[in-house]
Amino acid sequence: MARAALRRPKRCNLKDVAMSQPGDADLIAAARPPQMSYGQYLGLEQLLSAQTPLSGEHDELLFIIIHQASELWLKLCLHELTAARAHIAADDLGPALKMIARVSRIQGQLIQSWDVLATMTPADYSRIRPSLGRSSGFQSYQYRALEFAMGARNRDLLAVHEGAGEIHDALVEALHQPSLYDEAIRLLHRRGVSLPRASRERDFSIERTADPAVEAAWLEVYRNTEAYWDLYDLAEKLVDLEYRFQQWRFAHMKTVERIIGHKPGTGGTSGVSYLIRALDKSFFPELIAVRSGI
Ligand code: HEM
Repeated sequence: MARAALRRPKRCNLKDVAMSQPGDADLIAAARPPQMSYGQYLGLEQLLSAQTPLSGEHDELLFIIIHQASELWLKLCLHELTAARAHIAADDLGPALKMIARVSRIQGQLIQSWDVLATMTPADYSRIRPSLGRSSGFQSYQYRALEFAMGARNRDLLAVHEGAGEIHDALVEALHQPSLYDEAIRLLHRRGVSLPRASRERDFSIERTADPAVEAAWLEVYRNTEAYWDLYDLAEKLVDLEYRFQQWRFAHMKTVERIIGHKPGTGGTSGVSYLIRALDKSFFPELIAVRSGI
């Protein structure tokens, strides 16, 4: 060790330390990037000027921001699940598990936002309702893309986006791609949990129905968790995604019920009863069915 390092430190008092340490101003100056500001990096000018209430009513800003924040989270969910699906297809399960776990946490944020929106009363909403016209979350193409990425395949819902050019095209493409769940099923087979060809290679644009062969494959995983630990982890993470998706749907339906009661929606559906029907839809039916057999 160098002699200098062994030398006794010079005595100093706290005042000296304070003088020699960089102050806040120095630290801030050092951290400041030379060309780019915080606002520029985040595109805050565009982001914060994208709220244009039409009614002049106090609550419309809340209504717009809840929807916009939800769309931003949906964008991140899609980013994560698209990558997770590619990792599963490439037999690279570790990163996929991490991404799916992140999506579950994002869903927690989305679910939490209903509490904020529920501070809006029927009277508040009825004042902004005329400004909404026919616009409805029913037209959220990111929500539909997320449902497709998970495994839903209701092609009738594409009609809403007809004439929307690239958005429609992207949804049609998503409808034909294997979903996260399709890739999980194919992975089971590659990992030795044998599945018939029909369960793995199908027309992905068609809605899946519960497949006994897939249920039997998951049963094998659940009965041999030690041998298939990562597949078992994947299954539980998928169940978590669906569980939270349903919590979001339920909270949406209940929030809508307390705000508009049983009036029809701005998107032209029956409203609450339409939203109740969505609660019966499962992305991963075999992962629920398998629980009765364990
Ligand atoms: C006061 C607030 C809200 C009301 C009254 C409301 C009402 C409704 C209604 C009645 C529907 C059925 C379609 C229709 O006829 O319009 C619907 C669908 C939908 N809403 Fe909302 N909503 C509200 C807030 C939100 C928020 C904050 C989001 C977040 C993005 C959202 C996302 C959706 C989505 C994605 C659908 C389609 C669901 C499906 O097709 O399964 N909604 N909403």
